Amino acid sequence: MSQDRWSEVDRYISDVVVPSDLALDATLEASTAAGLPAINVAPNQGKLLALLVQMCSARTVLEIGTLGGYSAIWMAGVLPADGRLVTLEADPTYAEVARDNVARAGLGDVVDVRVGPALATLPQLVAEGAGPFDVVFIDADKAANADYFSWALRLTRRGSVIVVDNVVRGGAVVDAASPDPGVQGTRRLYELLGREPRVRATVIQTVGSKGYDGFALAEKDLELRGPGELLGTRQTGIVGFRVADLARDADLLPQVQELGDRLLQQSPDIAERIVSRWVGAALRYASA
Ligand code: SAH
Ligand code: DHB
Ligand code: MG
Repeated sequence: MSQDRWSEVDRYISDVVVPSDLALDATLEASTAAGLPAINVAPNQGKLLALLVQMCSARTVLEIGTLGGYSAIWMAGVLPADGRLVTLEADPTYAEVARDNVARAGLGDVVDVRVGPALATLPQLVAEGAGPFDVVFIDADKAANADYFSWALRLTRRGSVIVVDNVVRGGAVVDAASPDPGVQGTRRLYELLGREPRVRATVIQTVGSKGYDGFALAEKDLELRGPGELLGTRQTGIVGFRVADLARDADLLPQVQELGDRLLQQSPDIAERIVSRWVGAALRYASA
């Protein structure tokens, strides 16, 4: 199996299942003409993002890494009338191209292109009380993938979906000794996905016109603002173990204790079964 074949199949998919759209085609043409690198998502990946936005009934989307606005236009195009997409781009020239493309697509009132390094614009978003965003698409400099994911958690709610592009990179991600900061940043993201109690996540490898790569898909499943939300999780048992880990943090101990109390009040039968198992474990960890 080779790159030629992967590209041929992507072309077939695009021809038959993902028909082209004038605004999206014009976006790629204008981006090429302006000298932007062709590192936008493929059409079938853009449509996957649009499908996710629709499946989540999303109204607000955050994108990190705009380039010429191609993926932003895919997602913004399916938002409801009052929907908003904020997209962060470090390069002012790219951002200008993106704004033109967005305006041509008739999405000027929907898409807000913010210029600056995302590690500077993300704290600004938090400071101005932006969000929570229903969907976040992380697709910028890969060295900061884990940092972007952490910011995304601050700007989302329980049930929000976070997608991270380019997390396999030809398989380079398994090279623990790689000197590539992108590989190291992405490995830190994997570790975060594995241990972060607030998310349920997976990573899928892909092939296609963009080569051999992959994406991470995560759902924020838990909000640590208060014990009531801890109760709402769908994976109570597993999260319980994670709560046990968190309770090592002395700040969280009162929350864990309150959770135990509430569970006992609300559902004594469930509490009977699980409180002893995982809140108990949490308390043991916390006092260890
Ligand atoms: N999402 C786009 C492709 C993004 S390519 C699409 O699929 O159409 C990655 C983009 O991230 C580039 O435009 C690059 O300039 C931008 N970028 C790189 N480092 C960044 C940073 N620190 N902050 C914000 N954007 C950054
Ligand atoms: C690069 C960035 C991307 O987002 C992508 O999809 C492919 C390549 C890059 O920076 O090289
Ligand atoms: Mg990408």
